[in-house]
Amino acid sequence: MKDGKRGAGVSHYADLTIYGCLAALLTAQWWISRELLRYAGRRWRGWKRASARVAIYLFGGAAAGCYVVSFLPLAVTFPGAVEPIRTILGGAVLAYSASAAVAVCVCLAVRALRKHLNAETDGGRRRALNVAGVLAAASPLAVLGYGALVERTDFRVRELDVPLPGLPADLEGLRVAQLSDIHLSVFLSERELARAIDAANELRPHVTVITGDLITTGSDPLDTCIRQLARLKADAGVFGCMGNHERFARVENYTARAAAALGIPFLRGGRRQLRFGKAVLNLAGVDYQAFPDKRDYLRGAERLIVPGACNVLLSHNPDVFPVAARQGWNLQLSGHTHGGQVALEIFDQAITPARFFTPYVYGLFRSGASAAYVTRGIGTLGIPVRIGAPPEIAVLRLRKA
Ligand SMILES: [Fe+2]
Repeated sequence: MKDGKRGAGVSHYADLTIYGCLAALLTAQWWISRELLRYAGRRWRGWKRASARVAIYLFGGAAAGCYVVSFLPLAVTFPGAVEPIRTILGGAVLAYSASAAVAVCVCLAVRALRKHLNAETDGGRRRALNVAGVLAAASPLAVLGYGALVERTDFRVRELDVPLPGLPADLEGLRVAQLSDIHLSVFLSERELARAIDAANELRPHVTVITGDLITTGSDPLDTCIRQLARLKADAGVFGCMGNHERFARVENYTARAAAALGIPFLRGGRRQLRFGKAVLNLAGVDYQAFPDKRDYLRGAERLIVPGACNVLLSHNPDVFPVAARQGWNLQLSGHTHGGQVALEIFDQAITPARFFTPYVYGLFRSGASAAYVTRGIGTLGIPVRIGAPPEIAVLRLRKA
């Protein structure tokens, strides 16, 4: 899922997603409420029926209210202490609306099937069909439960070769570990992050990079996150770049200062030249790139390229890859998409809503002599669920193409 938190430079697609989800929630809730009201009308009389109706209206109103408070742009600033509650409510209402929308579709399909079979099906088969329909309608909740309780923290290590034309011999086999989109918040605990950090250290990389989104909102435990990241170990050091959430939370400067104090330089239009034998790995980073005009992507970043070195660019937003390739970067490392966060794999193709936003959802991409890797990252955004897109620690082995 591409990040859709409000803030400077947020795309119109994110707004469309927010309003689209609201429309889906309202439609599903209207249908569910109508069915429940009919059921209550048939089943009860008097005060029982009245109480059931009030409960149905209150639930629908509360769900819509939570959505409005959590996602729509409001001219209200919530105190920091309220933010975690708002985040939890937002996650709950998104989980509910997604499962309700799927459940409504399943119910309608089962109803149509039952109507079609009604004339020729005996009572036993009709009952079996009813049970199957109830199970199918409940299945979205089961899938969400799996995504929240199991897959969300099922950290995977993905180690892959990245062939690069003209790679200096002394960089052959160099291993770069990448962590991204940590989103330390009520949806990812320090203990869970510590587990990911330990796993990254066990990989013994030459260099480790962090490609943004340490937190989700300004009330999230940024200091805790940086303290954990400071435990990362790599031969030539640990480096970072900013994500969109550091910008939205207005903590970019603070993050850079606090991380630098613990030995992690965040590259903000800067570069570090790391020497390995006779070769140089030139590692550069840019702040989150989001401009209405894509021609503004990476403006001036070409001056960070070092001729003769292997030039690696850290950019949270993967969409800059065509520009990075034109500028001559050998490798771009990005995150931001969370691998879709919810993805369905059909015929080796990942189907995910993130495809509406970017062609660079997950994996290794190539353009001429340049490559880009987009990691699924560690944490979650909006809804504390990962389905078909488990969190990952990536390790990129540089190879001469
Ligand atoms: Fe993110």
